Amino acid sequence: MSDHLIPRPEHKFTFGLWTVGNQGRDPFGHEVRAPLDPSESVRRLATLGAYGVNFHDDDLIPYGSSPADRATIIRRFRIALDETGMKVPMTTTNLFSRPVFKEGAFTANDPNVRRFAVRKAFESIDLGAEFAAQIFVMWGGREGVEADAAKDVRLALDRYREAVDLCCEHIRDRGYDVRIALEPKPNEPRGDILLPTVGHALAFINELEWPAMVGLNPEFAHETMSGLNFTHAVAQTLWHNKLFHIDLNAQRIGKFDQDFRFGSEGIRDAFYLVRLLEDSGWDGMRHFDAHAYRTEDADGVWDFALGCMRTYLILKDKAERMRVDSEIQDALRAAMADQLATPTGPLDAVRTAVLDESALAAQGYGHERLDQLVTELLLGVR
Ligand code: GCO
Ligand code: MN
Ligand code: MN
Repeated sequence: MSDHLIPRPEHKFTFGLWTVGNQGRDPFGHEVRAPLDPSESVRRLATLGAYGVNFHDDDLIPYGSSPADRATIIRRFRIALDETGMKVPMTTTNLFSRPVFKEGAFTANDPNVRRFAVRKAFESIDLGAEFAAQIFVMWGGREGVEADAAKDVRLALDRYREAVDLCCEHIRDRGYDVRIALEPKPNEPRGDILLPTVGHALAFINELEWPAMVGLNPEFAHETMSGLNFTHAVAQTLWHNKLFHIDLNAQRIGKFDQDFRFGSEGIRDAFYLVRLLEDSGWDGMRHFDAHAYRTEDADGVWDFALGCMRTYLILKDKAERMRVDSEIQDALRAAMADQLATPTGPLDAVRTAVLDESALAAQGYGHERLDQLVTELLLGVR
């Protein structure tokens, strides 16, 4: 393997404990892999060159653990982190598995269910702070509805805002250095989920009490499920300065939430995403929220994890090649890609410019040539 394609901590690759620990259960079939000890995941991922791990409260500390068990688990986990140098940049809370959340968590109709959910989020924020995690992800998997009659969406958004504001207040009150990242998803497990796309979430943030503390954790699979262009969604998130975190995986349009190995589907889309992240100089974590195929045994999980990181690095290498490929750069000039940086105004220029509509309309932009050149670069023949 050439050196620059070997994952290293400086590449900032992270995995959720729930990703490599996924046991392959699906709505039709039981677990196919044994549970993985979180400390073992830390060690294996460190060997592969990852930077860190992220977790849900319940991934690390089984729900209902006694304070003594909690302390033992944290101590063992910290030893694995210290031995390997692995970090915990992000944590999140599970507000979807337990039966109490079946009607919603932050947006449940019952105020006591909401209080229970917000308190669980507080405890999870505290746990993250113990590991110096700076990002707290909020994925509202149960914030939605099947029976539309049962939920007033405008009131549900009031309560959603209230819950996020309460979490911000808790963070400020405790003096933590933590920012919140909202993760949109259109459906699954609910028939329809609130804040279904990046655009919805960006608009929601404007209504919060402390909007500067809240940004996004967009996921490749989730925008793709909606048929949207994930790279465009990430570009707009960057444009608003709201890309706090990212969930990388692979997904085919029109399918269930597949969470496949990064780049295993839609390799062109994956390429344009990597190019965007690298060209923008974004310095966040390259986090994989994906899991191994159900066909895999314990070894296959590590093939999966290495594959995610290796594909990212190969695509990063392709993006660098694109930048120095003179034919592609010529084709970009023919497409006038560089001219988009030229402002349209000022007002006077718009009013007085001499514009020949027929000449403008007759221009060709050479996209066929450009796109074919990029395709050939990706296919490895240039
Ligand atoms: C999903 C989501 C989750 C979240 C995770 C962190 O579709 O299941 O992507 O994996 O990212 O729960 O909040
Ligand atoms: Mn997902
Ligand atoms: Mn996710």
